[in-house]
Amino acid sequence: MADDDLQAKIDPANYYDDLGEGEWERLQESFKNSLEFENTTDYLSQYLPESGHVLDAGGAAGRYSIWLAERGYDVTLLDLSAEQVAIAKSRVAERDLESQVTIQQGDIRDLPFSETRFDATLCLGGPLSHIISDDERSEAIRELNRVMQSSAPVFVSVMGFVSVVQNLIKSAAHFEAGVRQLPEFIETATYSAELAKKYEDDDPAFVECHFFRAAELRNLLEKHEFAVEVVAGLEGPASNFEAPLEEIDADAQKNVTEVVRKLREDPTVADLSNHILAVGRVG
Ligand SMILES: C[S@@+](CC[C@H](N)C(=O)[O-])C[C@H]1O[C@@H](n2cnc3c(N)ncnc32)[C@H](O)[C@@H]1O
Repeated sequence: MADDDLQAKIDPANYYDDLGEGEWERLQESFKNSLEFENTTDYLSQYLPESGHVLDAGGAAGRYSIWLAERGYDVTLLDLSAEQVAIAKSRVAERDLESQVTIQQGDIRDLPFSETRFDATLCLGGPLSHIISDDERSEAIRELNRVMQSSAPVFVSVMGFVSVVQNLIKSAAHFEAGVRQLPEFIETATYSAELAKKYEDDDPAFVECHFFRAAELRNLLEKHEFAVEVVAGLEGPASNFEAPLEEIDADAQKNVTEVVRKLREDPTVADLSNHILAVGRVG
């Protein structure tokens, strides 16, 4: 495959265009993924102002935007993927929420909004992870800060480094390319077109992605003048256990939910989670 074709295949906008409805389904397709949604909305309930205009940056098909609009917030959803923007528009229209939710295509590295416009900002589920340049991730955080009112809360969740290493080891028997690239991958914590070309015969298993340590997320926000109030693991000890968690009954799932919730701010648990959430405030 030509380098340009490989780069196009691993590019976030194309990846999420192709994923289509799969991204809308993601947060409800398994018990483990519902932990990400339930823990995130629990923090939103605790830290959002009672009303106001919320930016859902990298909001994809609109799960969180709809959750916010149903609670009375005005929302602007912005996403890189034209297909996700189209799905979000139809999901919002089906619920008659168009007067509250504005949806547009755009890039978190260059937000098309004036300063201090929003009362809160979400950047959830990994949009920041899909920016593989350190400088551009910093630019995105600066942009989120720029468009927010002072003291407004920001909610940023990213994909965790420790859990992806565990997952690659767990998958060694059926995805050998994963463990072959591990020594090189852990040097940068970044899955790129170069790695895919070298180890996966030009057939990338995922979209380009930088995986975070919990301390790295905290430091990045603090470096760009957010005061960080919470760092939490959204799936915690349930990370990487999709299949067994589907097989247990509702009472057992409730116990897992409770344990994940109780342990979510433990620093070790946050660091090993599939998704790591930070809640900060503009200084
Ligand atoms: C895993 S989805 C998360 C969607 C949603 N926020 C959630 O938590 O379920 C990541 C989304 O980020 C978007 N994205 C990736 N890079 C982006 C960028 N630079 N600017 C805006 N959106 C971006 C993708 O198109 C995709 O829809």
